[in-house]
Amino acid sequence: MTFEDLLATWLVEQRWFAGKGRTVHDLAVVADTEIVPGDPGLRHLIVTVSHGATSDCYQLFVGLRAWLPDTLRHARIGAHDGMEMYDGLHDSALTRSLLDAILADRTVATLRFRQVSGAEMQATEGGLDSLVLTGEQSNTSLVFGEAAILKVFRRVTPGPNPDLEVGLALAALGSSHIAEPYGWVETRMEGAATVLAILSRYLRAAADGWSLAATSVRDLYATPGGRAAEAGGDFAGEAERLGVATAQVHADLAQAFGVSELDSDAIRELAEQLYRRLDMAVAAVPELSLHADKIGAAYSSLAKLIEPVPAQRVHGDYHLGQVMRTQTGWVVLDFEGEPASPLAQRRARSSPLRDVAGMLRSFDYAARHQLVTHPDADKLVPAASDWARRNSDAFCAGYAAAGGQDPATNSVLLRALLLDKAVYEVIYEARNRPAWVQIPLDSLAEL
Ligand SMILES: Nc1ncnc2c1ncn2[C@@H]1O[C@H](COP(=O)(O)OP(=O)(O)O)[C@@H](O)[C@H]1O
Ligand SMILES: [Mg+2]
Repeated sequence: MTFEDLLATWLVEQRWFAGKGRTVHDLAVVADTEIVPGDPGLRHLIVTVSHGATSDCYQLFVGLRAWLPDTLRHARIGAHDGMEMYDGLHDSALTRSLLDAILADRTVATLRFRQVSGAEMQATEGGLDSLVLTGEQSNTSLVFGEAAILKVFRRVTPGPNPDLEVGLALAALGSSHIAEPYGWVETRMEGAATVLAILSRYLRAAADGWSLAATSVRDLYATPGGRAAEAGGDFAGEAERLGVATAQVHADLAQAFGVSELDSDAIRELAEQLYRRLDMAVAAVPELSLHADKIGAAYSSLAKLIEPVPAQRVHGDYHLGQVMRTQTGWVVLDFEGEPASPLAQRRARSSPLRDVAGMLRSFDYAARHQLVTHPDADKLVPAASDWARRNSDAFCAGYAAAGGQDPATNSVLLRALLLDKAVYEVIYEARNRPAWVQIPLDSLAEL
């Protein structure tokens, strides 16, 4: 097998490979940089993979050893030129050089390792071992001794990286609700600076919002006939604090990136977009047509709004899986924006109520997803609605109290955004997790 064939065979098996089910026609190495010489050695590759008319770009950190220890077998790519090749991100003897290079602001050929000036993590903290975080879908993160986390993008796209851009801006404002960036790795692709990895503060002893919410929901469902407000695992205090943190993040985003208004034309255009998505969804999932009139009515109320709507930079993909509770408060992660949208749209201003809608839908999911497999699902429906409503109200109260636009007084816009999110979820679930499509459909029936 050629070097390229070996890489292609391995690549298509990886979870983060985007072209699943498609045939890889051609893999070409477009950049090859030696980061660590010798044995073990580390090479950084940028490869393009074409599937017919389209092509994707990936970066690979290829480790090289004459002899592969058992602990690295699972990361093996294959043998080439008398050396064993493997995914170098799993080898802490190699990844340490990435951390050291960032903390030393090193340039290696076309790779630039950059440290954020004034960042708290000092060069003395180099030399740490790394562990690969499990459970991620599209990127690979390395945790360095509970001090820092390096998020390595697998697929790379040229141009500004919204997560780094927002992280740097909010850190400069002193936000306590982000994991501030310590540094990054970049190169140039198609003439544009391209971010390959971001090093940030590691949140110690933190739990993600989705798991915390799920624990609260399980606790409620363990007591038949129980009410969310009386359950020992009540989440409303946390939901309210999350609302406060969200409003503070929005205020910082407004300060850092500016504000504007959507006038009545822009609002009509937004309503048109929502209609188009609804039409597409009804075509894909006919069951949705049961709710189409109700949803359409909400969109036409939106189109008739004459008051301008404030717009600013937002998170764009906001849900319980993107927030973590540390010992001192909520931290918001992953400012990449809406995954399916083009870069310009992900960085564009829109209503901050989009994020509010995202989180409220997430509360609904947290409550309902456990019913999908629960033996007493039918009896627990009222408890699920009760949990979702209680925590949504608490979140909105916290958001408004901390200076965010009161979701209750912007109900036409919020309702349209909530319905649109649920419509999007119906399409997503029908394609990816058919067993869950009932979750957004049930919510649409209730909304
Ligand atoms: N700074 C951090 N400290 C601790 N854990 C983190 C940190 N950043 C991310 N994580 C963990 O990694 C997960 C995914 O991170 P995220 O940035 O949202 O990446 P993705 O693009 O894969 O969604 C989080 O849910 C969290 O468990
Ligand atoms: Mg994420």
